[in-house]
Amino acid sequence: MSSNKKTFWTETLPDPLPANPLDLAAQWLAEAKRHAAQPNPDAMVLATVDDRGHPSARVVLCKEIAAQQGYLLFYTNYASRKGSELKANPRAAIVFHWDHLHRQVRAEGQVQPLSDLENDAYHRTRPWQKQVGVWASRQSQPVESRQALAAAVAREAQRFGIPYDGPGSAEPDEISVTVPRPPHWGGYRLYVDAVELWVEGEYRIHDRARWTRSLHGAAGTGATAWSATRLQP
Ligand SMILES: Cc1cc2nc3c(=O)[nH]c(=O)nc-3n(C[C@H](O)[C@H](O)[C@H](O)COP(=O)(O)O)c2cc1C
Repeated sequence: MSSNKKTFWTETLPDPLPANPLDLAAQWLAEAKRHAAQPNPDAMVLATVDDRGHPSARVVLCKEIAAQQGYLLFYTNYASRKGSELKANPRAAIVFHWDHLHRQVRAEGQVQPLSDLENDAYHRTRPWQKQVGVWASRQSQPVESRQALAAAVAREAQRFGIPYDGPGSAEPDEISVTVPRPPHWGGYRLYVDAVELWVEGEYRIHDRARWTRSLHGAAGTGATAWSATRLQP
């Protein structure tokens, strides 16, 4: 039975290629959220490099693809392993893979931490359990036991006057205190200077294109126009 219905499987990249690849990347992220086949369709692998040139990768959540401003946004602990690596070398790479949509997005660029004001504003929108959690976890540092971590959560909650004994115990529905943001927790904008969009093709004849541009000086201060090239799969 033949059908003219276009499926994701037979999708190719637009021809001509779009001027700004982040428009399409943002559209793909929105579609991945709408057609979510996994709990975190906004999860992306973030790769960083340490001062010896050794790479490491982990998953973080992408809170926004700002196509016009040219960045991706994620939040983490500035004192974590990734945080220290980004301090020493602000270059990072990310990859999203939406298997059921047959799409991959890769991007590379330079990170810029958010300002204290921006971080405070986002922190205020988070539930108190997460606000307390970022005080309790010295992300990427060893911890003696799960119990020690639970005790740290309870200790931090109580330090802010929240009657909570840690994971597994009863939680107050509402709290009347403000939990400030720890200075080591916040966001990064990844200003991208390279993007690759990939769609799966039949018999491994995938469709790929790479866009590059140059960032002016410090991240966020501007960039040249994108130049695009189709790549062999
Ligand atoms: C689905 C998923 C989402 C995650 N989101 C974040 C996130 O947004 N920020 C973050 O710091 N860690 C997040 N993590 C945890 C990281 O993968 C990682 O364990 C942690 O950030 C420590 O990494 P590091 O020691 O390399 O700094 C997430 C993990 C998973 C599996």
